Amino acid sequence: MPLFKDTRTDQGLPETDGLTLIDRDVTLVGEIVSEENIRLRGHIEGNVVTSGSVVIEPHGSVRGDITAENLIVEGSIDGRVVVARKFELTLAVLLVVYTILHHPPRLPADADHRTSRQPADCLECHGPGKKSPRGPNHPPAQNQCFNCHDA
Ligand code: HEC
Ligand code: HEC
Repeated sequence: MPLFKDTRTDQGLPETDGLTLIDRDVTLVGEIVSEENIRLRGHIEGNVVTSGSVVIEPHGSVRGDITAENLIVEGSIDGRVVVARKFELTLAVLLVVYTILHHPPRLPADADHRTSRQPADCLECHGPGKKSPRGPNHPPAQNQCFNCHDA
């Protein structure tokens, strides 16, 4: 069986009572629904849904959507991150998100966008419930706006 329990809590994973490890050279096809943390060294072709953390190690990959409480990505995702309350942005994640989604739109050259230079200002209009909220598939960024959106 490619799936087995592992009680280690190494490499900064939050304390946990369960950890599902999908090892190198294993490709799992199908949806994974779990309440445990998932550490991935192999490949998943299907959606991953967990109330725990997902750690995708450097050679690991997911082809599908990921819903998780925490997500740490060193490998790759070809799909969407549906919910991740704490999303640790590594450069790899940024690049993956960047290429999965369309090219981020440029800042409009109007007065609103020339005068606001801080992410906090941006969220005054683009935050949830404000005048022009970002779409549900927007990367979960609260700052770093200018990493993706240029004037
Ligand atoms: C005073 C409100 C306001 C502020 C502040 C503001 N925006 Fe906007 N933004 C809008 C509105 C309204 C639109 C849509 C109309 C338009 O294109 O001008 C828009 C459009 C955009 C778009 C283009 C969307 C598209 O589909 O082309 C981007 C990207 C964007 N804003 C990012 C930002 C960023 C980043 C900041 C902070 C530097 C910011 N905005 C500050 C109101 C605001
Ligand atoms: C990791 C890259 C990235 C970061 C960081 C980022 N955006 Fe975006 N943004 C995108 C992409 C990609 C799209 C296009 C989404 C789509 O078309 O599905 C987008 C679209 C938008 C839009 C158009 C409405 C929408 O949801 O499609 C607005 C407005 C916007 N971003 C504002 C912001 C603001 C404000 C910040 C900072 C708080 C920010 N963005 C940070 C990548 C990013």
